[in-house]
This record gives sequence, structure tokens and C-alpha cells, in this order.
Amino acid sequence: MQGDKAVVIGDRSLSCGHCAAVCPVDAITIHAIDPEASKFATFDADSRWLPHGEFNTVQLVRLMASRRSCRNFKDKPVDRALLADLVKIGATAPSGTNSQMWTFTILPARESVTVLGDQVAMFFNRINNLSEIYWLRNALRFIGKPELDHYYRDYHQSVSEALTERENKGEDHLFHGATAAIVVGSRTEGSTQKEDALLATQNILLAAHSMGLGTCLIGFAVIPMMKDIQVKRSLGIPDSEKVHAVIALGYPEEKYLKVAGRKRYVQRYFETARPHVKSS
Ligand SMILES: Cc1cc2nc3c(=O)[nH]c(=O)nc-3n(C[C@H](O)[C@H](O)[C@H](O)COP(=O)(O)O)c2cc1C
Repeated sequence: MQGDKAVVIGDRSLSCGHCAAVCPVDAITIHAIDPEASKFATFDADSRWLPHGEFNTVQLVRLMASRRSCRNFKDKPVDRALLADLVKIGATAPSGTNSQMWTFTILPARESVTVLGDQVAMFFNRINNLSEIYWLRNALRFIGKPELDHYYRDYHQSVSEALTERENKGEDHLFHGATAAIVVGSRTEGSTQKEDALLATQNILLAAHSMGLGTCLIGFAVIPMMKDIQVKRSLGIPDSEKVHAVIALGYPEEKYLKVAGRKRYVQRYFETARPHVKSS
């Protein structure tokens, strides 16, 4: 406060909105904040801040644990308004220095998903053919680039089968028949683009489940977009953007009776007695 007025100190404001959120008389407008970004078309949002400890943890954990990767979608389109709302929910995630450099490319229909699927199939066809060249795999390994060799060992066979089934029977082992997708990327500025994009992605996965949609992250579609600029271009994504996640979306054709467990993970505590500082 300077006198009776709040002022922005330091070089610049992060536009995080904390000042507006504590102002009791709505006196603050932050130009960088888009009021449209918190207006949802498919539900009435409650813009009141939820105090710590007031949400139902049981239901939150149930939602988180009930989200499963869906690999069996109904042939039913997803409303564009729902997809746009999901993106807005994604953008409620935290981001490094509040940069919010994420980008969302919505593939609103099965046809658009198929275009990406074709591009990805072409990419893996090329990689599969390359990885079949024995001397090339070995030469690359010799100069410290074992990736093609590892690919051949781990993926060549299954990718080859998936490509053949796609070609001969029209089976979609990549997107599992999803009728929509969201590609989450970032503009290149910002120090934590990947983390920001993946946090937004998780928001979308959880919200989609709550809205009756199934999701599946498709890592196999991310790789071609990272490695081959043409794949990004085919979706109208600028060359300067990076892609971090592809979310397949649609109405699930599957149900579970209970949630799945998780593997054992490493957990540790680091504890030490703080040195006692004697006050004089
Ligand atoms: C980064 C990432 C990439 C993934 N890529 C694929 C993929 O290409 N195809 C697929 O069917 N599932 C993919 N998955 C889904 C995982 O297989 C799935 O999350 C995991 O088996 C746990 O199952 P759950 O999601 O049902 O909890 C991916 C998951 C992550 C986190």
C-alpha cells in the first residue's frame, strides 16, 4: 500500500490475479486476465474461492483414481462447447512465473483425428523401415545414438502389426477410435513449458471424466510432432510451438467395477534436528 492505494512494486506484475482475488471492493482490473477464460458454456461455474479443507477429499480421490485410459470409444461426436470448456479447465493449472504459455489445438471430430492418425502412421512407417536396416542401427549405436536400435528392439514388431491392421482392416490402434483430441503444446518462451502443459493436461483428463468423457494420452502421437515439423504443420500448429501431449477423447464404451491399484513407489522422509539457536 502506498498511502491508501495498492501499487504494483518490482519490475512488473506477473498478472497472477492474487491482488484482485483479495480485494474486497472489486477495485482491481488486470488487463492480462481474459474474463472469457472463466466463462463456461456447458455448466455454471462457481467463482467463489473454495477455502482450504472444504472440498470432499473422498470424492476427489475417487475421481482421480477412477480416471482410466480409455481405449474403446463410442462412435459419438463430442460437442465443441465441451471441448472448449475442457481447454478452459486445463488453463486453470499453475504455470512457471504464471507464464501460461500453453497452446491447445482442438481436433473436434473423428475426421481431424484421422488426419493426425495418417500422419503418425506415415512417420512410424518411415521409422520402422529405417530401423530394419541392420548396419544403420549398428552405425548409429557406434556413434553413441542407440535410439534406433532400442526402437527396433522394443517397438518395431508391435508398430508393424498396428500399421498393417490400420492399412488392411482400418483398425485404429493409435487413437482407439476417439472422436476428438486435444493437442497440448507451448509457445517457446517461458522456462517451464513442458511442466505447465502437462499440468494443464492432467486437469483436462480429470475434468473430462467428470463430464462423462473418456480420455487416453497418446505418447505415440507426440513423438512424430516433436521430430517431424510436417506433422505439426498438418494440424496448423506453428513451427515455433512445441507439442507435449496428445489427449484422445470421446464417449467411453467401457465400464469398471472398481478402481485399479498402483505399484509400490519410493517414498522417503528426510528429517534432521534443526540446530538450536540460542537467543541472547
Ligand atoms: C506420457 C504418456 C504417454 C502415453 N501414451 C500412450 C499411448 O500412446 N497409447 C496408449 O494406449 N496409452 C498411452 N498412455 C496411457 C498409459 O498406458 C496409462 O496411463 C497407464 O497404463 C496407466 O493406466 P491408466 O491411465 O488407466 O491409469 C500414455 C500415458 C502417458 C502418461
